[in-house]
Amino acid sequence: MIEFTSVTKVYDGRGKSAAPVVALDDVNLRVEPGQIFGILGRSGAGKTTLLRCLNHLEPVTSGTITVNGTDWTSLTDKQLRSARRQMGTIFQHFNLLGSRTVADNVAFGLEIAGQKKDVIVPRVAELLELVGLPDKASAYPSQLSGGQKQRVGIARALATDPSVLLMDEATSALDPTTTEQILDLVKSLRDRMGLTVLLITHESDVVRRICDGAALMQDGRVVEQGRLLDLVADPDSRIADQLIPLGRANEELTGPSQLLSFVNEGIGDPLLSRFTRETGIDVSILGGSVEQIAGHKVGRLRVSFDHPHGDVDDAVIQDWFREHQVTVSR
Ligand SMILES: Nc1ncnc2c1ncn2[C@@H]1O[C@H](COP(=O)(O)OP(=O)(O)O)[C@@H](O)[C@H]1O
Ligand SMILES: [Mg+2]
Repeated sequence: MIEFTSVTKVYDGRGKSAAPVVALDDVNLRVEPGQIFGILGRSGAGKTTLLRCLNHLEPVTSGTITVNGTDWTSLTDKQLRSARRQMGTIFQHFNLLGSRTVADNVAFGLEIAGQKKDVIVPRVAELLELVGLPDKASAYPSQLSGGQKQRVGIARALATDPSVLLMDEATSALDPTTTEQILDLVKSLRDRMGLTVLLITHESDVVRRICDGAALMQDGRVVEQGRLLDLVADPDSRIADQLIPLGRANEELTGPSQLLSFVNEGIGDPLLSRFTRETGIDVSILGGSVEQIAGHKVGRLRVSFDHPHGDVDDAVIQDWFREHQVTVSR
């Protein structure tokens, strides 16, 4: 649905003598249709720039961005204006117009798109219903809570019926309970409308709760990306380590360790005691836990194996766990 190929973005330095800033450095990124995809990374990593290049608020310096098969970097201004309507954006600070009612805020994009009033009025009512604010049409933004403001932001973003929703730290200004409600709303909208969602966040909770995939950015580069359920099986994945920390393996103390990862299967079963009973191999747990990720129960455990009466046979370990739907990796 969204594909970045070798995208680079260099800003002219701020101020007279400032050096240029490489905000995106050879970014390659792939987001599948219908995915909720998280962009993680520290402040200054280039996350907002990536979003602004995607919705064409910033031109790229080099590389291509395709959305739904169309190369966005080669569109004319006119084509771009209509292409942009395929994309709705939600902001951290809501960016609502204080002098307009809720209904008029939601209507704004439709007015710009040249829609007539008899189209706009029922559409706005439908959108406010969709985000759970049917009774707030004539309220002003200052009369709303943060969560309600963000619901208006979502309704406004969806007004032109986009296929992609972009969220830049859209829940960072909200308390945890409101954040969960907004995330659940986004997820149900994705399920109902088949949206593809790209969201920037610095909170692992957000990723665990709704993302299917994620990318980690560092110094303008995408250093890791993939489906979360694939990443959790990778002992070197930094994204997985943020979602289910394993703790640092101190192999001088423990000897060689391995990662067991499992999705849904096996959780709640006494798998490790069965393994020891059936193979005679002891298991020591060194770190890890079980979390809910993208609607699945996912476990990651760092363990070491020991055979009290002989050698540990790696093949036995691999076969036993594979049979029980657990991935073993070094
Ligand atoms: N308009 C701009 N002009 C010059 N430098 C910018 C501009 N916008 C962002 N930058 C710089 O680009 C880098 C990436 O910024 P940004 O994309 O906002 O990162 P993030 O959203 O991950 O915090 C930072 O070093 C930032 O200072
Ligand atoms: Mg940012």
